[in-house]
Amino acid sequence: MTITISHKPFSTTASDTLVLFAWKKAADSKEILYSKFLKEIDTTCGGIVTRTAEIERFDPSVGKTCSIQTHGKIPSRNILLVGLGVQNEITVATLQKSGAVTARRLKHYKSVHADVYLENDFSNSITEDEILHSLVAGIRMGNYQFTNHKTVGIETLHIVASVNIIISEKESDSHKHTLDTAIHISNAVNFTRDLVNEPPSLTTPSYLAKTAQDIVKGKQNMSCEVFGKDDLVRMKMGGILGIASGTDVEPKFIKLEYNVGADKTIALIGKGITFDTGGLSLKPASAMETMKMDMAGAAAVLGVFSALDTLRPRVNVVGLISSTENMPGPNAVKPGDVVTAMNGKTIEILNTDAEGRVVLADALSYAVSVIKPDVMIDLATLTGACIVALGEEVTGLFSNSKELAESLLESAKQSGESVWHMPLVETYKDQLKRSVADIKNIGAGKWGGAITAALFLQEFTDPTIPWAHLDIAGPAFAEKDMITSPYGGTGHGVRLLLNYLLKRG
Ligand code: BES
Ligand code: ZN
Ligand code: ZN
Repeated sequence: MTITISHKPFSTTASDTLVLFAWKKAADSKEILYSKFLKEIDTTCGGIVTRTAEIERFDPSVGKTCSIQTHGKIPSRNILLVGLGVQNEITVATLQKSGAVTARRLKHYKSVHADVYLENDFSNSITEDEILHSLVAGIRMGNYQFTNHKTVGIETLHIVASVNIIISEKESDSHKHTLDTAIHISNAVNFTRDLVNEPPSLTTPSYLAKTAQDIVKGKQNMSCEVFGKDDLVRMKMGGILGIASGTDVEPKFIKLEYNVGADKTIALIGKGITFDTGGLSLKPASAMETMKMDMAGAAAVLGVFSALDTLRPRVNVVGLISSTENMPGPNAVKPGDVVTAMNGKTIEILNTDAEGRVVLADALSYAVSVIKPDVMIDLATLTGACIVALGEEVTGLFSNSKELAESLLESAKQSGESVWHMPLVETYKDQLKRSVADIKNIGAGKWGGAITAALFLQEFTDPTIPWAHLDIAGPAFAEKDMITSPYGGTGHGVRLLLNYLLKRG
């Protein structure tokens, strides 16, 4: 799907569908509000638009649409009315949903060329740029389909060839820049989705390493280094090696670098468990069904890197990925075994299903001792407990820095992702201490698991380096179709991180 932007008089449009927006004054209001332009079209069409919306009892809430045949009154065959929700409560997130539902309905109605008429008569709390950006990103995310392994029905899948956004003023360089940025960011999201959606026997640690190498190939400011098992032994990464002992598939530690000579470096660290069986603390079958997604943190880091060369933030970025399978093979680490992380701390592994924190211990130690970044952010599908706390759509954010937490929350808002600030409760640290080693990999008791996991990670950070941990266990994978993402990987984290990086420089 190509997306263009133009300012052209309506009479010259040759699209098959014209997309127009509608909204309402308040949540309980029955009155549908329209743009001036829609009212003009309605008059041209003899009142058919407003009349159909009324007859169909169209509710202009987010996610709702209404299709109207124009019977030759205007060049477009159809008008698709798309709900934006409540006036002045329209946000980046709701606009992305409206964009996504637009793409889905265009596909449903087998539209080939669509025009979207965009005029902001509906909100004074959001900028023109944000509106354009959000709609375009939403359209691209809503248009996403993962068909790599489909052989049946593929020929009948409809492709919307082009969407043209018509704006009321002459298109400027700033409009074009916003459009390009939204396209690059949504490409990165869809790149991450593809990686998560591929089967786990394909997306092995070596596959992630190859993907990283492909991303940097031919790019001047980017490089990639891949460390295999012997390197991990040499680097004393006992955490990754311990978890990898149950599989024959080689673990990899992957380092990506984007260097623009800036004075600040941000490290992005991803959990890359390419399949999580739980190890000897085996998961039940139903809990294992979606565990190919346990590399979604790593996939988000790769997604971000896939867009750095085009988006060009003015800050250096280092990506670190700890990747292995977590399998219950004959040599697998056993509950009660002790491993030593790269920073020398010993970890008693009491539950082999709490493997993410163990592999991240090495990546965080590496970041602190080798990269010495100005900021470090890890992304991990770390705990079921975070899903219990926040549900399937919200990321848990933990941080040792108020300032970093606030900027990430701001980026979340600006990029349409849902993030909630969670506490690192000092007194819970004791739960990790009752162990034959320096620390054990699970908390005592059954409560607050997302917090004890974050506190475990904190042991491998440096209090002088601002660090944030994003537990994306819930939103990384949609277990049912959502408006902005079909079943599968969602690419969560990518929009937030790219927004954060672009604001740094
Ligand atoms: N990968 C899982 C966490 C997870 C669960 C992600 C569900 C997405 C959906 C992680 O490795 C895990 O199994 N964590 C355990 C920790 C427990 C054993 C302390 C959990 O959350 O149950
Ligand atoms: Zn696990
Ligand atoms: Zn896991």
